[in-house]
Amino acid sequence: MFKGKTVMITGAGKNIGKEIALDFARNGANVIVCDYNREYAEQTEKEMLQAGSEVMTAVCDVRDRAKIFEYVNCAVNRFGKIDILVNNAGGSAGLLNKLTRFADAEESTVDFVIDTNIKGTFNCTQAVLKSMIKEQSEKIINLSSIAAICGLYDRVDYSAAKAALIGMTKSLAMEVGEYNICVNCVSPGAISRDGLKLSHMTFMGEDGHGGNPKDISDTVLFLASQDFITGQNFVVDGGRTLGPGHR
Ligand SMILES: NC(=O)c1ccc[n+]([C@@H]2O[C@H](COP(=O)([O-])OP(=O)(O)OC[C@H]3O[C@@H](n4cnc5c(N)ncnc54)[C@H](O)[C@@H]3O)[C@@H](O)[C@H]2O)c1
Repeated sequence: MFKGKTVMITGAGKNIGKEIALDFARNGANVIVCDYNREYAEQTEKEMLQAGSEVMTAVCDVRDRAKIFEYVNCAVNRFGKIDILVNNAGGSAGLLNKLTRFADAEESTVDFVIDTNIKGTFNCTQAVLKSMIKEQSEKIINLSSIAAICGLYDRVDYSAAKAALIGMTKSLAMEVGEYNICVNCVSPGAISRDGLKLSHMTFMGEDGHGGNPKDISDTVLFLASQDFITGQNFVVDGGRTLGPGHR
């Protein structure tokens, strides 16, 4: 389905990003695996080569604007263009083991969360945008979270950053619509990590079942195949955000 297309996925070393990368590879795309963790990135690359895909690995932090631009240049030189960008790298203060009430949050932790989620997405998007405008008919897909919609304890900075990505998605979709570039957002609910089943979901302090990375990659690949959907936020949460009547 994506034969001849080149896709760049950030945070592709594990879990949701890895599943997206593998799914694109299985569907014939050339894939740029971007992750700041070399071991995870190389493991993804190995599995993708087995799927017969052309892979370029970019061991890079999305916060490092210069490096991201450098890797994008390399990728455009190698593949000719980048057709699809998936801004998946992101996370909360949990990545630093520093989840806490906002009253106690350190400035450096808040900066980390804002930079990883917002600046990282901005950097990667700006790095590909000029070449996408030239090519037309390209796709950008951002990973937000239902935390942006419902809020989440101990993640005020994360919820704010993910809400910013929904706003960014809409505004950018308006700006680049004339070039046939579609920009959309996917907001997962609780998704299992590292193959662990989420039997006891702690999102919003309630029990419930979580989703799998495949639920998110299916949505991302669907959006990457559509030309008439743009500026939208797709909630993929098993109904979690339906409200108090939902069980
Ligand atoms: N898992 C969930 O329940 C869930 C729910 C809602 C939203 N999300 C969002 O989905 C995305 C993926 O989530 P996940 O659970 O798979 O994450 P994860 O923490 O399991 O994996 C993230 C991957 O991104 C890489 N990464 C992190 N920061 C990076 C950076 N600055 N530069 C480059 N690579 C970086 C990590 O090395 C890792 O391989 C994130 O944006 C997350 O906020 C996840």
